[in-house]
Amino acid sequence: MDVLAAIQKRREITAFKELPISETDLGKLTMALYQSPTGNNLPSREFIVVTNKPLLAQLSKTTPYMRWLEQAAIGVVIIGNEELSKYWLQDASIAGGYLWLAATSLGLGAAWGAVYHSEDHNESSQRENYVRDLLNIPAKLRVVAILGLGYPASDPPPKKMYAEDTVFHRNSFGLR
Ligand SMILES: Cc1cc2nc3c(=O)[nH]c(=O)nc-3n(C[C@H](O)[C@H](O)[C@H](O)COP(=O)(O)O)c2cc1C
Repeated sequence: MDVLAAIQKRREITAFKELPISETDLGKLTMALYQSPTGNNLPSREFIVVTNKPLLAQLSKTTPYMRWLEQAAIGVVIIGNEELSKYWLQDASIAGGYLWLAATSLGLGAAWGAVYHSEDHNESSQRENYVRDLLNIPAKLRVVAILGLGYPASDPPPKKMYAEDTVFHRNSFGLR
């Protein structure tokens, strides 16, 4: 599947079949993460691929909004290094987008579990520390998100989008 087709096909998938992801496909997914661009070309984001089922079950309790992780074949924890680059959050987010599209192109589904919370410092610390403790992540690294991946239990229809002029402008804000 080419990248434009994957963009159109991609949905958030939160229910998965009990099928493993092959090592070949896992290699393609990690390649997508590895090749994702970063500001200043610095390795400002790192990834923990979680295949251990009991660990996925524990991670699914990081927030109330990622219970689907328990069913996923793998989880990918995306970590940002704010000491290395001021672009850590953008870099981590782009990597997650690449992973999501790569998963779609392989016939897999993915869901995004937000960990980092930009508005509520205490909530963010609580969530990030929970993941840090489970995965031995150094305190200086930020935990941005956990994506869950697996074979989709269902095939959701293409997304119904809002009108394009909600978000597009031409040459100047407000001009179409
Ligand atoms: C930054 C970001 C944070 C998200 N956080 C969560 C989350 O914590 N839990 C969840 O189930 N989905 C989460 N999602 C998935 C969105 O809810 C989902 O992508 C959105 O509803 C649109 O649906 P679609 O992906 O099928 O287009 C997140 C997505 C993004 C991009």
